[in-house]
Amino acid sequence: MTSRTTATDYVEDVSPGTGALPPRAWYASSDAKSLSLNGSWRLRVSPTVDAEDDSFAEEGYDAGGWGEVTVPGHWVLQGDGAFGLPIYTNHLYPFPVDPPHVPTENPTGDHLRVFDLPADWPDPSEGGAVIRFDGVESCARVWLNGTDIGEFKGSRLPHEFAVGHLLKPSGNVLAVRVHQWSAGSYLEDQDQWWLPGIFRDVTLLHRPAGSVLDFSVNASYDHLTGEGTLRVDSDVDGRVSVPALDIDVATGETVTVPVQPWSAEVPKLYDGELVTGGERVPLRIGFRTVELADGLIKVNGRAVLFKGVNRHEWHPVKGRALDLETMREDVLLMKRHNLNAVRTSHYPPHPAFLDLCDEYGLWVIDECDLETHGFTEQAWRDNPVDDDRWTPALLDRAARMVERDKNHPSVVIWSLGNEAGTGRGLTAMAEWIHGRDSSRLVHYEGDWNSRDTDMYSRMYASHGEVEHIGKELDGGTHKRRELPFILCEYGHAMGNGPGGIADYQELFEKYERLQGGFIWEWIDHGVKHPELGYAYGGDFGEELHDGNFVCDGLIFPNRQPSPGLLEFKKVIEPVAIEGADTAVRVTNKQDFADLSAFAFEWSYQVDGESVESGSLSVPALAPGESADVKLPEPPADHGGGETQWTVRALLAADATWGPRGHEVAWGQVPVTARTLPSVAATDGPVAGDRVITLGPASFDARTGALMTIGGVEVSGLRLDVWRATTDNDEGAEWLTGIRSAELWRKYGLHRMRHRLASVDLDDDALTVRTRVAPAAWEFGLAAVYRWTSDGSRLKLTVSVGPEGEWPVPLPRLGVRFGLTRADSVKWYGGGLGEGYPDTKSASKVGRWESTVDALQTPYLRPQENGARADVRWAELGGLRVEGDPEFFLTARRWTSEQLDAATHLTDLTPGDTVWVNLDHALHGIGTGSCGPGVLPQYQLRAEPAEFSFVFSEVS
Ligand code: GAL
Repeated sequence: MTSRTTATDYVEDVSPGTGALPPRAWYASSDAKSLSLNGSWRLRVSPTVDAEDDSFAEEGYDAGGWGEVTVPGHWVLQGDGAFGLPIYTNHLYPFPVDPPHVPTENPTGDHLRVFDLPADWPDPSEGGAVIRFDGVESCARVWLNGTDIGEFKGSRLPHEFAVGHLLKPSGNVLAVRVHQWSAGSYLEDQDQWWLPGIFRDVTLLHRPAGSVLDFSVNASYDHLTGEGTLRVDSDVDGRVSVPALDIDVATGETVTVPVQPWSAEVPKLYDGELVTGGERVPLRIGFRTVELADGLIKVNGRAVLFKGVNRHEWHPVKGRALDLETMREDVLLMKRHNLNAVRTSHYPPHPAFLDLCDEYGLWVIDECDLETHGFTEQAWRDNPVDDDRWTPALLDRAARMVERDKNHPSVVIWSLGNEAGTGRGLTAMAEWIHGRDSSRLVHYEGDWNSRDTDMYSRMYASHGEVEHIGKELDGGTHKRRELPFILCEYGHAMGNGPGGIADYQELFEKYERLQGGFIWEWIDHGVKHPELGYAYGGDFGEELHDGNFVCDGLIFPNRQPSPGLLEFKKVIEPVAIEGADTAVRVTNKQDFADLSAFAFEWSYQVDGESVESGSLSVPALAPGESADVKLPEPPADHGGGETQWTVRALLAADATWGPRGHEVAWGQVPVTARTLPSVAATDGPVAGDRVITLGPASFDARTGALMTIGGVEVSGLRLDVWRATTDNDEGAEWLTGIRSAELWRKYGLHRMRHRLASVDLDDDALTVRTRVAPAAWEFGLAAVYRWTSDGSRLKLTVSVGPEGEWPVPLPRLGVRFGLTRADSVKWYGGGLGEGYPDTKSASKVGRWESTVDALQTPYLRPQENGARADVRWAELGGLRVEGDPEFFLTARRWTSEQLDAATHLTDLTPGDTVWVNLDHALHGIGTGSCGPGVLPQYQLRAEPAEFSFVFSEVS
C-alpha cells in the first residue's frame, strides 16, 4: 500500500479510497427522511490538483466569485466552454500511459453547496445520517463543515459517508473536490466521452436508530412446482411482508408459496415491505431462478434468447446525467421495439434504471465499471487487471456493483467489465462474485477460454464463425465447449445500418447454443452544439480523438429511432407471421408467454391499397408453438392488380409499455403478382435542329441527353454508381480487406467519366451508347440507354456491361437525374422508412407518401441514406416512374458528392435541384465499421444488367 505523503496523493493511489461506508443495497425510497442535494452548486475549476488549497471547504468561505454548475452534471458540458471541454477517445488514453500517474494538468472542480436541514428533520440524537454520491467522475474528496470525510474513485458506483455527527440545523457546508484524472481513470477507459463531474444524485439520508443497513432479497422460482421461495437477509433484524402472498415473516426466515414468476416477458412484481425497528423499506419482489443447465442459460427452467442492446447512459445536453423520465423513455422505446435485454455497457447504470427494467421487463447484464482497453497498445503490459496492487480496487468495484444491484430480478448476469484483457484481478473478481451471489451467472467477453465465466461471449464475430460456434465446432477448452454462447456486441449501429442482423437472428434461432446478442449500441453520443447541430469527437479541438465513432446508436441523440432500430424491431419480433396464399403460419417466438396478449388483424391489398380488413383469430399458442391459420376468402375482383395479405399482431389491451393496438409484428403474403409496365414502341424519334423529340420527351440532339418529359425539365440523367460512403463502407482501420470506401476511392468510383460513343435514331428508338469509367484504370461499364415511347409514355431501358477486370463491387447501379421542382413524394413499394439490401426486413410493401425532406435520414455524419426499397412506381416533381423490375428510390436536395463531403448535417444546404436516384441495385450495408462487411449475397458485383423505367407526366 502506498501511504499518503501529501494531501493530493490519493489521486494517484491505486486503492479505491478511504472513509466510505461498506457498500449496500440501493433503494429509491423509504420512510426515513432524505434530502436531495441536487441543484445549483458553486464551482471553481482549476488546472491542477493543487492549484488551490482546500480552504474552500471551511465554513465561512466566500465563494461569491465562483461559477455555478448544476448537479447532477458534468462541468465540461456547462458554462459554454468556460469550465473546459469534453474529450472523446475510443480506447486510447488521452494521457500518457504511465500508471498510476496522471497528468499534472488535471482539471479539478471544487464544488460547494450550503444547505439547511428541513424543519422536520429528526433531532440529531435520533440516529445518524449518510451522504450518498451515486456517481462522480473520476475521483472526489469530500468535506462536511470543514471536516475531511474521505475520498473515493469508481465513477459509476455509489459511495456513502456517515455524517450524522457533523450535521447542524442550518448552514451545512458540503465541499467536494473532483479531479478529472486519477488512478481510477486507468480503469475507466470505456469508448465514450471523458466527462468529469458529479453526474449522479447527491442525497443526504437520515438513518434512524434501528434503520436498515444492507439486505438481500432472495426470491427464487421452482418451475416444476410453481412455487416461489423468499428469504430476505438483513443486517438489522426485522419483518418482511408481502400482502398479496400472505407472507409475514422474520428476516432470515424462508417461506415457500405458489407465485407467478418474474420474466422479461411477464414481469410480475409483488409489493412488499421490509420493516426494521427504525425504517420501513418498500420492496418489489420478482421470483425467478437463473441457472446454467444443459449447457444453456435458463430462467425458470427455460432457455432465454437475448434480443438485446448495449446501453450507455447518454443525453445530448446532460451527458451521462440522466433524469428518471429519460431513463423511462429508453425502457419504453426498447419495449416498444421488441427488445428484451440490455447490457449496461460498460458500467452499472443509474440504479433507477434497473427499477424500470424490473417493472417493465428487460433481462439485464449488469456490467462493472471497468475497462483498461488502452493497454492493448502496449501488448497489455502493466495492465492493472494483471497487477495485484490494483486488485483491491477491482474487488471494491465488483462489490459496489453487486451489493448495490443484487435485489433486482431483472439482473440475471453480472459482467466483470469490458475490454480489460486478461489477468488475475479479473479472476479474483469472478471468484468473489460467484461466492457472494450464486443465484446469477458471470460474464466477461475477454475470457475466451471461459476460465472465470459461465458463458462463452464474443463481440462482432462474423456470421460464419457464429454458425461454427452454433454447430459446436469451435473447439476451445473443455469448459467452454459445455457453455452457451452470446454475442455481447454485434450489429455496429454506426451511421446507416447495421446490415445483416436478420442473418444473425436466423442463426440464433437455428442453433440452441446461440442465445442471442446485444446490438452495439443504443444511442448516438452526439453533443448538442450551437453551430454543428450535434458534435462528435474532434469538434472540441481534442488533440487525440476518434471522430464520429461515438455515434453508433439505434436512436439518434434526440431519441428518435433510426432505421436500424426499426429493422431490429422487425427482425426480433415476438411472433413470426409467414405464409402462402390461403393461410398464414403463426409462430410464438417468445420464451415464456403465450400469445394471449396479442390481437391479430388481416388486410388485403390491391396495388398496395387496403381494400378489406378484419380480425383473425389465432390460438393462444405456447412459446415455440406454430399454427397454420386460415385466411378469409379474398375479395373477388381486384382489377388485375398486384395483391397481397398483410397480417399484423397488435397489443390486445393496454400494456404498461404500450397502448392497445401497438403493432408488435407483421407479415405479408403475396397473392397475385404485378403486371410489369409495358410501352409499345409505336412512336419514333424525330430529329430537329438541336432537339430530338420522342413521344412526350425532348433530348439534346448532339449528346442524346434527356431534357424534358412533357412540361417537366430533367437534367443530367445518366448512369450512377457512386454513393456517399457510409460509416460501414469506411470500415475500421483495424479491419482489413473489407474497407469498401477506401477501395472505391482508390479505383475512382467517385469520379467516373462518361464518354459518349454514339447517338442513334431508329424508327422506334433513340439509342445512346456510352462508356463509363474512372481515370487511370482500364475497367469500365458499357452503358446503353434505349428510349422508346407510345406517344404519351417514355420508356428507358438501360443495359450495362462490365468491361475489363472489375476489382471492387459497385456502390450502386442505376440512373440519377435532377428535377427543378419536387416536394411531395408518393410511391408504391417498400416503406415507410429506408431499406437497403441487407437492412430491409422492416420495409413494408404498401402505398406511401412523404416529402423530399422527410425522406432524409439524419445520420450525424452525413452519408448515403434514405433509399426506399422494392419500389414499383413513384411520383415526384410532376413525374411518374414505373420500374421493371422494382427499384430503389432516393431523392435529395443535394448531390451524392455534396453529401459525401459534408461532415455534419449543418454542412448540407438545399439547392434548387432535387437529385433523384433510381437504382436497379445497391451494395449492401454490412457492419464493417466494427465487424463483418457485406455478406456475399448482398454485394453488388459488376455484372451485365438490364433494367427499365417508364416515365410519364402526372397532372
Ligand atoms: C467494442 C467496445 C465498445 C465499442 C465498440 C465499437 O469493442 O466494447 O465499447 O468501442 O467496440 O463502437
